[in-house]
Amino acid sequence: MSPYIDPSTASAVIDLDAFAANIETLRAHVAPAAVMVVVKADAYGHGLLECARAARDAGADWLGVATPGEALALRAAGDRGLLLAWLYGPQEDLTPLLAAEVDVSAQSVDQLDRIAAGARAVGRRARVHLKIDTGLSRNGATAAEWPAICAGARCAEQAGVVEVVGVWSHLASADEPGAVSVGAQQEAFENAYRVALQAGLQPAIRHLANSAGAMIWPETRYDLVRLGIATYGIEPDAGIADLAGISLRPVMRLRAQLVNVKAVATGAGVSYGHTWHAPAPATLGLVPLGYGDGIPRRAGNRAEVGWRGRRAPIRGRVCMDQFVVELVDRQLSAASPVVEVGEEVTLFGPGDHGEPTAAEWAGWCDTIGYEIVTRIGSRVPRVYLRRSASGDSAAAEGEGG
Ligand SMILES: Cc1ncc(COP(=O)(O)O)c(C=O)c1O
Repeated sequence: MSPYIDPSTASAVIDLDAFAANIETLRAHVAPAAVMVVVKADAYGHGLLECARAARDAGADWLGVATPGEALALRAAGDRGLLLAWLYGPQEDLTPLLAAEVDVSAQSVDQLDRIAAGARAVGRRARVHLKIDTGLSRNGATAAEWPAICAGARCAEQAGVVEVVGVWSHLASADEPGAVSVGAQQEAFENAYRVALQAGLQPAIRHLANSAGAMIWPETRYDLVRLGIATYGIEPDAGIADLAGISLRPVMRLRAQLVNVKAVATGAGVSYGHTWHAPAPATLGLVPLGYGDGIPRRAGNRAEVGWRGRRAPIRGRVCMDQFVVELVDRQLSAASPVVEVGEEVTLFGPGDHGEPTAAEWAGWCDTIGYEIVTRIGSRVPRVYLRRSASGDSAAAEGEGG
């Protein structure tokens, strides 16, 4: 018996046509810059392998991941395209990555030395992107460390073990229109690039922009943009798509069946701690997803789900595997007085049928749309929607883990 929730009971429905359409829209928007689709963290919860394949089909020039494990999973699944991995620890063996022809990021002389050793071990020149910290204060070499890294990389190039193909960095506040840090980071980036050239390197690919940068800061696009959240149809922040003059469609619809329905009397306390009491007789539905599946506990008494084209508010606390919604449907009550177990609710989706979006959930839960979709756990089956291979418009469904 599989440890996952049965897909009829609850699933995250992933619209791969919407994903492809978002990528095509963004590709046209950033041209002539090339596009890397970021599929780390299980493609932001949407499914690594299926999204990677769909991104390549939609014309992604590159894929980007954080960890070596993610990159190797893509290679094991047959992906052979341009692929960059940028986050690994001091103990990790980089040779499998280099053998699999994955581009790697380096931000220190130590990392370069390990990459060079790995390249010697596998007998293949490593393709490296040198990372400069231009102001995020996260990964990347400081300006003080940068000249030594460039010099070390040049030596490794001359030894024939490394090829520096890119210089890159990451923006801190591109989702804030008018943020002064963007210009400052860009200036630091261009200085770093000049230092690299002076060291004798010839990195052909400069990349700085994430979704927000690519969408509303054209000067940050350089040769390649790294697009994550926007490809999944979620704005980096409210209003960014309008500012860019493009429209994106959310790719994930999280839905479930009501697994229980009951009437409670005035005053009934609902869920752990009785943080909500029915002010009048109420009909309650039980949704079989909880914080064990990535539903934020913060959503208790705050968020809503879509039901019968309207909204049903969450009542009481979100539990590990389930939460309770109040079902109020006065308009339909004469025609269908009873709410049936098995009726469908949509926690979030594109919003076409009155359901909330991930962005709305982010507002209720004091977080960002990124976290809402990425946290949806492995117990929730992903069901993939795509047009059939024959090209007609009938949707085909496939399931993934
Ligand atoms: C280094 C790097 N580049 C690009 C991205 C994609 O960012 P976004 O999802 O905002 O497009 C991320 C995501 O966090 C990242 O860590």
